[in-house]
Amino acid sequence: MKKIGILTSGGDSSGMNAVIRAATRTAFNNGIDVTGIVRGYKGLVKGEFRKLNRIDVSGIINQGGTILKTSRSEAFKTSQGRKQAYQNLKDNQIQALIVIGGDGTFRGADIFGEEFDFPVMGVPATIDNDILGTDFTVGADTAVNVALDAIDKIRDTVTSMERIFVVEVMGRDCGYIALESGVAGGCEQVVIPEIEYDVKRLTDDILQGYKQGKISWIIVVAEGGRKAQDIAQDIVTLTSLEVRVTVLGHIQRGGRPTARDRILGGRFGNSAVEFLLQGQRAKAVGIQGDKVVSLSFKETAAKRKSLNTDSYLRLIRVLT
Ligand code: F6P
Repeated sequence: MKKIGILTSGGDSSGMNAVIRAATRTAFNNGIDVTGIVRGYKGLVKGEFRKLNRIDVSGIINQGGTILKTSRSEAFKTSQGRKQAYQNLKDNQIQALIVIGGDGTFRGADIFGEEFDFPVMGVPATIDNDILGTDFTVGADTAVNVALDAIDKIRDTVTSMERIFVVEVMGRDCGYIALESGVAGGCEQVVIPEIEYDVKRLTDDILQGYKQGKISWIIVVAEGGRKAQDIAQDIVTLTSLEVRVTVLGHIQRGGRPTARDRILGGRFGNSAVEFLLQGQRAKAVGIQGDKVVSLSFKETAAKRKSLNTDSYLRLIRVLT
C-alpha cells in the first residue's frame, strides 16, 4: 500500500482532528502517502483532494471540528456519484480509504467498498455514541462534558432562584448525551427518544416535590425526545409553576476535545492504518473495554445500539 485517502463525513465531532493526525502519522511511519479528501463524500465525488504533509497535522490535536471539513452528501447515495468517487480514487492512485464519521458514513462506506471491492476502514466519530460494537465514539465525551458544564452553570440559577429549568441537549435519535449529562449533573428528570414521554408522571413528580418544599428542578431533554419548549408549556399548564428553557444546540459539537477523546482518536487513527496494513477491509475500529477491535460494517449496522436507560433512570429516581 503506497497511498491512502482520509475523510471526515457527517456531523463534526471533537477529536476528529486527533484521528486525522494519528492516521496520517502512522501512515507516514509505514512509508505511505496520505491524501486528505475535503468535505467528506461530497469532496470524494467532486475530486477535492489535497496531499497531507507532516506539518498539516501539527498543532491540531487540541482543535475541535475537522481540518478536512465535513458534509452530508446526496451525490454519494447515488451509484453515479459513487462511480465518480471510485474513478477519482483510481486517478489519484489511492489504494484504501479511511472514513471518520457516524452510522450514515459507515453505511455509505459499506456500499462503496462492496461495489468496487475497495478497502475501506471506518472510524466511529459522533457525539451521539450510537455505533453498535464500540463502547465509545470520538466526540461523545466532549459533548457530554460541554452539556454538563452548561447544566452546572444553570444549576446556580436553579438553586438561587428556586426555579424549574428544561435544558435541551443534542441527540435527534439518541438520548446518550441527555442521560449522561443528566446523571452527572444531578438532574431530576431526563426525557429521551428511547422512552415514551409521560407528561403526567413528570408533572405529578413536580407537584409532589413541590408539596414537600422542593422548588428547584432541572429536566434534561434530548432534542429527539420532545422539544424543550413543549415540555415547559406542559409543566406550566399542569402545575402553574414558572419554567425557563435553555437549548444548548451546536455548542456541544465543538470546542477543545477532552483528554479521553484525544486519546481515543489517537488509538483509533493508529489502529485504522494498522488494520488496513494487515489486509482488513470493510471494517470499522471500535473500543471494547480497553481493547481496540475491528468490527464489520454489517456488525455496526445490525441494530440500534441500546443505552443503559434502566439503570440510569433508576439512579436518577433514587438519588433526586
Ligand atoms: O452528529 C449527530 C448530531 O449532532 C445529532 O446529535 C443532532 O441531532 C444532529 O447531528 C444535528 O445535525 P445538524 O448539525 O445537521 O443540525
